[in-house]
Amino acid sequence: MIITILFVLQYIFLFGILAILGYLAFIMVSFRNTVPYVPTPRRIIKQMIKLAEIKPGERVVDLGSGTGRIVIPTAKKYKANLIIGIDRSFFLRLVTKLRLLFHPFINKRIQIVNQDFFNADIASFDVIFCFLTPTALRLLTPKFKLLKAKSRIISYMFSVEDTQGFNETIKHISTNDTIYIYQKL
Ligand SMILES: C[S@@+](CC[C@H](N)C(=O)[O-])C[C@H]1O[C@@H](n2cnc3c(N)ncnc32)[C@H](O)[C@@H]1O
Repeated sequence: MIITILFVLQYIFLFGILAILGYLAFIMVSFRNTVPYVPTPRRIIKQMIKLAEIKPGERVVDLGSGTGRIVIPTAKKYKANLIIGIDRSFFLRLVTKLRLLFHPFINKRIQIVNQDFFNADIASFDVIFCFLTPTALRLLTPKFKLLKAKSRIISYMFSVEDTQGFNETIKHISTNDTIYIYQKL
């Protein structure tokens, strides 16, 4: 009996090590992209959602939704909103969809889309979450300019350079963490 338990534990341990190594390899490979996969810290996500001041019916998108760390808590908190996550990584979309299996009451209000956000039409969204890079934000700026009045961009870590047409608010959460909010005028 003890031998069987040890045998099974050995396989669980091996599987765990392989999963961690696979995850680390995925993160390293993703650093070759314009925007690598780096998860937003949970305490920051809480602040980003709060600062977005989402109203019932508003359309919300996370550009580069990763494993759903922003879309899932947003859908949990705001029950009258459709939340879209755009990510072009098959692996990260799969992880999000697996996570959604554990949230049956919100998964109808979340859509995970396989798309390159540089080609996405984001003009109809009211709230745009992003944790991207300065280059990606620069490339997306022409799309940001097409947003409706009062739409908000909630950007963690990096600011939008061209803020013409936006009201910018900067929230320093800690020495290393800043959230930038851009409201379209
Ligand atoms: C810094 S991560 C942010 C992940 C997620 N928002 C979070 O808070 O955990 C950036 C995400 O953007 C995705 N991404 C990078 N370039 C993309 C592109 N052109 N189109 C769609 N998704 C992209 C990556 O796969 C990654 O999941």
